[in-house]
Amino acid sequence: MALKCAVVGMGGIGHTHARSYKNDELAELIAVCDINKEKADKAAEEFGVKAYYSVKELIDGEPDVEVVSVCTSGYENGSFHFEPAFELLEAGKKVLCEKPLCAVIRDARALVKYGLDNRLYLGCNLNHYFTDVAAIAKKHQLDGDIGELAYCIHKVGFDGSDLGYGGVGDPKSRWLKPYSHCKAFLTHPFSVMRYFCGDITHIQAFLDRPGVRKTAGDPMLSINSVNCKFENGGVGVLISQRGDARFGLGGWWSYEHAGTKGTFCIENCVEKLTYWAGHKVDENGNKYLPEPEVINTGITSFDATFPSRIHAFLEDITNGVHYEFIRSSGRDALATLEYIEAVIQSYEQGGAMVRPNPLPPIHGTPEYIH
Ligand SMILES: NC(=O)c1ccc[n+]([C@@H]2O[C@H](COP(=O)([O-])OP(=O)(O)OC[C@H]3O[C@@H](n4cnc5c(N)ncnc54)[C@H](O)[C@@H]3O)[C@@H](O)[C@H]2O)c1
Repeated sequence: MALKCAVVGMGGIGHTHARSYKNDELAELIAVCDINKEKADKAAEEFGVKAYYSVKELIDGEPDVEVVSVCTSGYENGSFHFEPAFELLEAGKKVLCEKPLCAVIRDARALVKYGLDNRLYLGCNLNHYFTDVAAIAKKHQLDGDIGELAYCIHKVGFDGSDLGYGGVGDPKSRWLKPYSHCKAFLTHPFSVMRYFCGDITHIQAFLDRPGVRKTAGDPMLSINSVNCKFENGGVGVLISQRGDARFGLGGWWSYEHAGTKGTFCIENCVEKLTYWAGHKVDENGNKYLPEPEVINTGITSFDATFPSRIHAFLEDITNGVHYEFIRSSGRDALATLEYIEAVIQSYEQGGAMVRPNPLPPIHGTPEYIH
């Protein structure tokens, strides 16, 4: 039976969630909510559902709603997440919160703790790895085609250059705080790195901003280089920028993952996957390096990541997946925020090595066996 769903926060992203629920056979969209009455009413009309103007009214008015997306935004694109998400969890709803889980690490820790302590479903929209190319790359990894991690390089950002800089009024710079880009954006690349490489144990970060931002009095540290060491012994580099330079190889988002048995590279997030197998042995016993395998999906729109990620949340709930093991959980989102916190600490200590705060433990279930 379809899960009764609602969306809180009817901006552009709230509309994308609502459309995804509308088109998903596992869901029935029954309500939308926004503190801005006009926006709520307009969206309600568009989707043919009821409008609410606060989370409390939604909870009281729709006792049967089971799944709620929190698509509010706020300062550093996450400061309005904590209150509505917490209120919904307290009411026992299954919550899919937009990223970053919270703008303040203390809030994110409290939200995740509440969810885990009360055995509730708390997911986060870490949508960047819910793609066809990531699924194929993951299959290579699980099939043993990649081997041990040697290194990963993740390069991600916005296309631009100094003449394209919009000044301090530009939406891309709108919070005018040093860490806004890190907090609002790095959750995505860190989620991808952790998906393929596991937990990060050591972080060292170099952050800066180009002259055009300095001249404009824009404090945002928009150029980021982060060195990472993973628990599995591999190393990685994350490079991120916010429209300060043109894209180079791999487009707006590339991820190269090199292992002892093979390497893969995803380009443009959804578009292309290349797999280079490591050495093989031919029938004469000679070693050779096979030609790379290239998959062009024909998909170019990043919007394709939303329905697949949202479907995964619905699927996990429908299948009764244990609350600690849902895909892209609140705890997974907290991991990315702990890494961002380590980035900030490293920068503030002049590029010192920092160990991210450990995550809350997972208790596990007897049926979950590696
Ligand atoms: N996962 C992704 O790839 C991705 C991409 C872009 C943005 N985002 C995230 O999506 C979120 C929403 O982004 P947006 O651009 O649609 O934001 P937006 O500011 O356009 O819309 C947010 C809406 O939430 C409403 N709102 C705020 N507080 C509320 C509350 N307590 N109750 C009800 N409504 C409330 C506002 O009135 C507004 O209409 C942000 O957190 C952003 O970081 C995610």
